Amino acid sequence: MSESFHDNAVEEIKSRCNIVDVIGQVVSLKKMGNNFKGVCPFHNEKTPSFVVSEPKQIFTCFGCGATGDVFEFVKRYYNLDFPSAVERLAKEYQVDYSNHFHDDGKKELYYQINREAATFFYKAFTQTQNEGLSYMRNRGMEPETLKRFGIGYADEQWDSLYKHFMSKNVDVKILIELGLISESKGKYYDKFRNRVMFPIINTRGKVIGFGGRILGEGSPKYLNSQESAVFMKKNNLYGLNISRQEISKENYTILVEGYMDVISLYQSGIRNVAASLGTALTENQAKMLRRYSKNVVLSYDADNAGRAAALRGIEVLRKEGCKAKVLHISDGKDPDEFVRKKGKDAFKSLIQQSLGYVDYKIENLKNRYNLDSYEESIEFLKETAVVLRELGPVEADVYIKKLANEIKISENAIRLEINGNNTQVEPITTPPLSKYGESDRKAQQDFSMSISLIEKNLIKLMILDYKYYEIISNYERVFKTDYAKNIWKAITELYEENEVDEKEIDLKKLQDGLEIAEVSILTDIIDNVQLADKEEQVLMECINKFEWEELTEKENSLLTRLSMADEEENQETIKVLTEELMELQRKKLGGDK
Ligand code: GTP
Ligand code: MN
Repeated sequence: MSESFHDNAVEEIKSRCNIVDVIGQVVSLKKMGNNFKGVCPFHNEKTPSFVVSEPKQIFTCFGCGATGDVFEFVKRYYNLDFPSAVERLAKEYQVDYSNHFHDDGKKELYYQINREAATFFYKAFTQTQNEGLSYMRNRGMEPETLKRFGIGYADEQWDSLYKHFMSKNVDVKILIELGLISESKGKYYDKFRNRVMFPIINTRGKVIGFGGRILGEGSPKYLNSQESAVFMKKNNLYGLNISRQEISKENYTILVEGYMDVISLYQSGIRNVAASLGTALTENQAKMLRRYSKNVVLSYDADNAGRAAALRGIEVLRKEGCKAKVLHISDGKDPDEFVRKKGKDAFKSLIQQSLGYVDYKIENLKNRYNLDSYEESIEFLKETAVVLRELGPVEADVYIKKLANEIKISENAIRLEINGNNTQVEPITTPPLSKYGESDRKAQQDFSMSISLIEKNLIKLMILDYKYYEIISNYERVFKTDYAKNIWKAITELYEENEVDEKEIDLKKLQDGLEIAEVSILTDIIDNVQLADKEEQVLMECINKFEWEELTEKENSLLTRLSMADEEENQETIKVLTEELMELQRKKLGGDK
């Protein structure tokens, strides 16, 4: 029902509004040829590469690749979802459209009442002598910060808010439903008393509830609005109304536990921050974050509860397609304390040091076991294997190497643990480095660092089986370093020498055709690149990754050419290149998993 309503509105808006006017309100546009040009609002640039086409009613940035129609622009610029973008434009162009998903009449009234309450608390906080303000000032909060978050004060009287609403003839039932007023024995009283009030505002700017902190010690420390028609904790994040622009810009969210953490970080200048309202992070909250950026740095309290919450949170985020990292507060109990003590830059360096999913999980396991004990190392390894099993072989390989080093268990043993004990390890034996006497481990490692993991995996595959060689031979250009190129050539020569039915590589012969550095690299590959019986998968991963990198390179060069064409206002070239670029980006999207 509202679908068709929606579609009509979209068409109506399209027919009434001109993209040039909509963008022109926020980007200064200059007419150039058929198009309008300006400085792109979606990335940092000095020379304008943002082009708006009036006939096509689309925008394209040749610098960052942002492109789309008027709805796309409004979505991106104002950080809205599609229905909200339609709603915004509908309002502006007086198209009859009410978004039934978002609010019906009843909700609108509830929002208004909550806003009225927020204003009431705010006035008490800013216009009267009150303990709330001194409490917050003592905690280092500046008036400007407090104002930005609309912080208020609920006084110690029993009925200030109640009286206020009665003077406005508001139905007490609604006040009770919203959790602002309680009823006992026929008497009504204010739920929040002598507390600092944090209004919780959703991303559409509606006041949906409150958190009230007691002044000093006492219980409960925080009193939150009860769930209501307009307030569902699990669907909201504190601070997101203020921080979402910054989150998009920085392309990550710092997720904290508490109200004070949000405000304090914000005041220090770290503004891409939100809090999960004191609950464990929910699926819906993760989905919300995902809309602004898929990168999340969990910055929970330094205690055990915070640690546990981070471990759960990271799983939830991962399931929703976010890339989560965990930050460890090294001084103080929470981000608020840390940033007030150590400052913004110190917090930023904690962000730098935050650990990704696998590292964090392994780190946690390490803390639980004594790795000097052999038995405990084995237990540790068993648990770690569970984590590594979730990874693709290429990614797992990196961790296996690191672990083998740290816990002094051989890579093969770790691989066996991961793949189960029935997996055969490839029976390739290493020929001695005959030409050059004793192998020099250090030198071998140095050489080996100079070729990429993709190159190594593919070389291993080519040696293992001719059928892989046949596939890989279509991708000769994957071998970029001279070392890898030479090994590739030597393998090709050997296969070409062989009869069709005995396509096998004699490692001894292969070595004979190589230089010392190449022999060293080859030995490393044979010894250390383990494919764990997942050859086909590794092959596909390598080729996909390579194709992705190749497309990205092409894309970058196209973008450079486009900006040149753009500077010269060569519309014909721009058009051709844009089409090429779009085609390429489509390809990339198709190949991305
Ligand atoms: P400060 O002590 O003021 O710095 O608080 P904080 O923000 O550091 O809070 P804390 O780490 O103790 O708790 C994190 C979040 O959990 C808070 O911001 C609240 O949202 C929630 N919370 C804390 N205590 C309570 C409580 O007693 N009741 C409820 N419902 N929520 C709480
Ligand atoms: Mn705190």
